[in-house]
Amino acid sequence: MTFSKAVIPIISLGESAFLRALAEEDVTSEYVDGLNDPEVYRFLIGPSKQRQTIELVRNFVRDNQDDPHAILFGLFIDNTLRGTSRLHDISNESAYLGIALFDRSIWGQGWATRMIRKIVRFAIGSLGVKKVLAGIEKENIASQGAFNKAGFRPNQLLSHDLKVVGVQIWECIK
Ligand SMILES: CC(C)(COP(=O)(O)OP(=O)(O)OC[C@H]1O[C@@H](n2cnc3c(N)ncnc32)[C@H](O)[C@@H]1OP(=O)(O)O)[C@@H](O)C(=O)NCCC(=O)NCCS
Repeated sequence: MTFSKAVIPIISLGESAFLRALAEEDVTSEYVDGLNDPEVYRFLIGPSKQRQTIELVRNFVRDNQDDPHAILFGLFIDNTLRGTSRLHDISNESAYLGIALFDRSIWGQGWATRMIRKIVRFAIGSLGVKKVLAGIEKENIASQGAFNKAGFRPNQLLSHDLKVVGVQIWECIK
């Protein structure tokens, strides 16, 4: 599936918060510092392997802009970037969703749950994707809680096929 990056909408999350596709110019030192915070990168593949720099994060944003099967959304609250959510490996059959709130001061306020719900609605309703999946580490209780609350459940079959130790595939069932 290919779609035009020019038509990715701004997704409202209430009065002072929205999601929109990220651009290189959006990369802030807070974003980079957040990705270097052990509490944040603990379950994230890229940042847990290598210390992040402005350059690396800009490259990551650019790679996602250039990828016809991925969208990297930024979460803006009060016009400040607080986190990201990436829809990737987008095809007609499925798309994977990942999430990282690098501003720890907003954890536990339901932002992840609301972002997941809205992006799933966009993926299925606007892109025409049949199902949305997420790869979640079994020890990542916070992420499981957010995806569970947003209507995802572990899919034993897909998790078995994945053959990656410690990670389960969750599927949106609502
Ligand atoms: C995981 C993460 C996205 C959760 O975001 P969040 O906005 O704090 O999550 P929510 O507030 O929407 O939480 C939804 C539910 O998840 C559960 N939950 C969230 N954080 C939790 C925690 N630290 N411990 C246990 N349960 C937790 C709760 O059940 C919560 O619902 P409740 O508040 O009604 O009890 C955020 O902590 C994060 O970005 N972590 C670092 C990166 C990461 O691990 N990303 C996920 C990779 S798969």
